Amino acid sequence: MEERQRKPHAIIIPFCFQGHITPAINLALKLASKGFTITYIHTEFIHHSISKAHNHNSSTEVDFFAEARKSGLDIHYSTISDGFPPEFDRDLNFDEFWDSMFRDFPVRVDELVGKTIQSNPSSVYFLIADTFYSWPAAIAEKYSLVNVSLWTEPASVFAIDYHLDLLRENGHLPWNGDLERQIDYIPGVQPISKRDLMSYLQDDDVTTTLLKIVIKGFEQVKKADFILCNTIHELESGSLSTLNLEKPTYAIGPINFDTTFTKISVAKSIWPESDCTQWLNSMPPGSVLYISFGSIAQSNKQDIGEIANALLLTGVNFIWILRPDIAGPDETDILPDGFNNRVKGRGLILSWCNQNIVLSHESVGGFITHCGWNSVLESIWYGVPMICYPFIADQPTNRKLVVSDWKIGINLCDGQQLTMKEVAQKINLLMSGKTSDDLKQEMKKVSKIMHSALDMDGSSQRNFVQFLENLKVNLY
Ligand code: UDX
Repeated sequence: MEERQRKPHAIIIPFCFQGHITPAINLALKLASKGFTITYIHTEFIHHSISKAHNHNSSTEVDFFAEARKSGLDIHYSTISDGFPPEFDRDLNFDEFWDSMFRDFPVRVDELVGKTIQSNPSSVYFLIADTFYSWPAAIAEKYSLVNVSLWTEPASVFAIDYHLDLLRENGHLPWNGDLERQIDYIPGVQPISKRDLMSYLQDDDVTTTLLKIVIKGFEQVKKADFILCNTIHELESGSLSTLNLEKPTYAIGPINFDTTFTKISVAKSIWPESDCTQWLNSMPPGSVLYISFGSIAQSNKQDIGEIANALLLTGVNFIWILRPDIAGPDETDILPDGFNNRVKGRGLILSWCNQNIVLSHESVGGFITHCGWNSVLESIWYGVPMICYPFIADQPTNRKLVVSDWKIGINLCDGQQLTMKEVAQKINLLMSGKTSDDLKQEMKKVSKIMHSALDMDGSSQRNFVQFLENLKVNLY
């Protein structure tokens, strides 16, 4: 068969967290809509969780891509065990879980990739794996696959992780010396202070599992052929242009809003979503504050108490997502006594919702967010100003982009300790008055840039076309 006629087949393996799964599924749909065959791989645990969430806890498993195939897309999924049964608590046993993910998971990925290729040797294959994985380069090399690294966080975070060697050379990994010194030597990244670095770089302990994941992932990414970033060129042009000098890097975001395929329904949520549309419909425009700390971050009872008391003080309408594990596995009754009764009619507390439906609703006027990258992109897309309350990983760095660089959000807490008084003050600033107007004004500009990137001739669409062109050169 002529090389040029061989069908391209992408094997896509997302990282096993909600914030990585959604963009990977949307990338899979986008590539399938361009004529690629897709093998999309979840861990069995993620597969089980999504199936359970979408079947209202029944054990029937969901065929994720059935509707996509009905629409003519050649897209299939497989699963791989992460080595633990569903009931194993992967957060509580994070280190044990990741030891196994470093050691045993790559062996299973290798087997599945081998089998996939064997089942249809006439296709031409390439691998798209999340940047945080510790094995893509080895597997791509073994099977001679083009190796595409999928990055689901900001390009500036990527640039910092890519240059961990510079941090080490300058005595900033681990951090010793002047706490106030700015890091002004990362190519393409504006000077940044310690408190704005990713959490794993702020930690004095350089043996944490989180940092180990990053170090291993970035050793691998140096051997990747291409980088795909779920960001927007115009918003991060410095980091992206500089990264491009090292490796072909394409900003194709926000991938979750690409209208070429978003109408195809694919189950993505790990938890069941409560429907709050009716409630939102009953609220005045711009009056509701939405609060969510994403899928991983854990707060604590004291801070949650301060936020709850601030909500009582302000009288604002709100939807607050409190996952059952939000204050740790053993904390129950995290809200102040009588809180639910006192906010009846103006406040909804849910364990998970469809965040896009909430943020796109006209009654929502503000978002207290943990600054997960997907949440930031979603808030910008729908033009909702933010109050930033970062916890771990990239969230502190994302906060800097939102508050200091783009000026579309404010901090929840400027000092060391969260207090109900300051939180109430910030909520009032976000929801009405001059600060609110200024934030909305800036948000309009940033939101427009983001929407334009996905126009037919927008930067993200052009970058995607360029990526496909360069891929072809490598594939054939
Ligand atoms: C974390 C990181 O902080 C993030 O930057 C990284 O890219 C992925 O890991 P997470 O806590 O999952 O992410 O936050 P975020 O990236 O915001 O993703 C959460 C996703 O869950 C969003 O797409 C959001 O729409 C969705 N969500 C959240 C819901 O659908 N319902 C909810 O109730 C809350």
